[in-house]
Amino acid sequence: MKTTIFSTHKFEEPYLVKANNGKHQLKLLESRLTEETAILATGSKTVSLFTGDDASSKVLEKLNALGVKHLVLRSAGFNHVDLKKASELGIKVARVPAYSPYAIAEHTMALILALNRKLIKAHNRVREQNFSLNGLTGFDLNGKTVGVIGTGKIGSVLVKILHGFGCKILAQDVIEDQNLINSYNVIYTNCETICKQSDIISLHVPLTATTKHLIDKEHIALMKPGVMLINTGRGRLVDTKAVIVGLKTKKIGYFGIDVYEEEEGLFFEDHSNDILQDDVIARLMTFNNVLITSHQAFLTETALANIAETTIYNLDCFEKQILSGNEVTIE
Ligand code: NAI
Repeated sequence: MKTTIFSTHKFEEPYLVKANNGKHQLKLLESRLTEETAILATGSKTVSLFTGDDASSKVLEKLNALGVKHLVLRSAGFNHVDLKKASELGIKVARVPAYSPYAIAEHTMALILALNRKLIKAHNRVREQNFSLNGLTGFDLNGKTVGVIGTGKIGSVLVKILHGFGCKILAQDVIEDQNLINSYNVIYTNCETICKQSDIISLHVPLTATTKHLIDKEHIALMKPGVMLINTGRGRLVDTKAVIVGLKTKKIGYFGIDVYEEEEGLFFEDHSNDILQDDVIARLMTFNNVLITSHQAFLTETALANIAETTIYNLDCFEKQILSGNEVTIE
């Protein structure tokens, strides 16, 4: 099946080509899908998207006018797709529901450890032959309280890792996982209690109308002074401007993110020769207790192979007009 793949990154191309094994006619484009670039899908019945692509109402109308019938997402998250509009236009959407929750949970842990033990600062110092330890003091994770918001596939893996570190785990989810309660002593509570009692808070819920700015000024006010806040979920789960105030007042002691509210058009791209236009991320980058990675938590060999294989499987199913089980529909 003829498919235009938007936002093809160098790191995923070999995995896609291998999984496809010549089956489908893939048009691999580096361009992001936007209103302006939608025209590049001409001739394809199927379009494949990454998280930074724009599948809002206007873009979907353009794709529909070109005869596009299917969207195949190379991600678990689907907040960048206007599902209502897609349904109205009869455009079917499929995603990769799970490719490696370990990849994201492990990266979350890497952010926690790097921030706590000040690894970036230590590394930079040693490279400059500064072997002093002043200012590098961390804290034992053992015995600390960690609030995990969202205990689905990724959150539950993180719980298991944190349990291994000897942390006490508070959690919030609309569905309580009995196995996590029984095997890892997880205590389910509400977001307010998590904010009040946690030394570290990590976000693993999808971005929806309900979860947008879940961490806002009011929730930050409830947090322990010096709390560590980690977001590898979606940027808009957090009100970044409120976090900046929290960092300036030292209410937030550490902020680790792999996702950012305005990451579209910024993350995944080399802007090293550009003037940074986004003043909010520019301010975040000035704090020495902020660690930012540009949406790379998923970036492991296992995850890339699984994403490519499921994407090709979803194409197979659309071509044969059979259900893949990976369809995304409006709840
Ligand atoms: P999942 O669907 O397995 O788990 C999400 C959990 O959130 C579920 O247990 C669900 O019941 C809970 N939930 C949903 N709405 C809620 C609400 N309003 N309040 C409390 N709990 C709620 O999803 P998974 O695979 O664990 O992924 C979580 C999120 O992580 C994704 O939606 C995506 O945005 C993000 N993600 C980030 C990646 C990265 O590279 N940084 C890669 C993959 C996913």
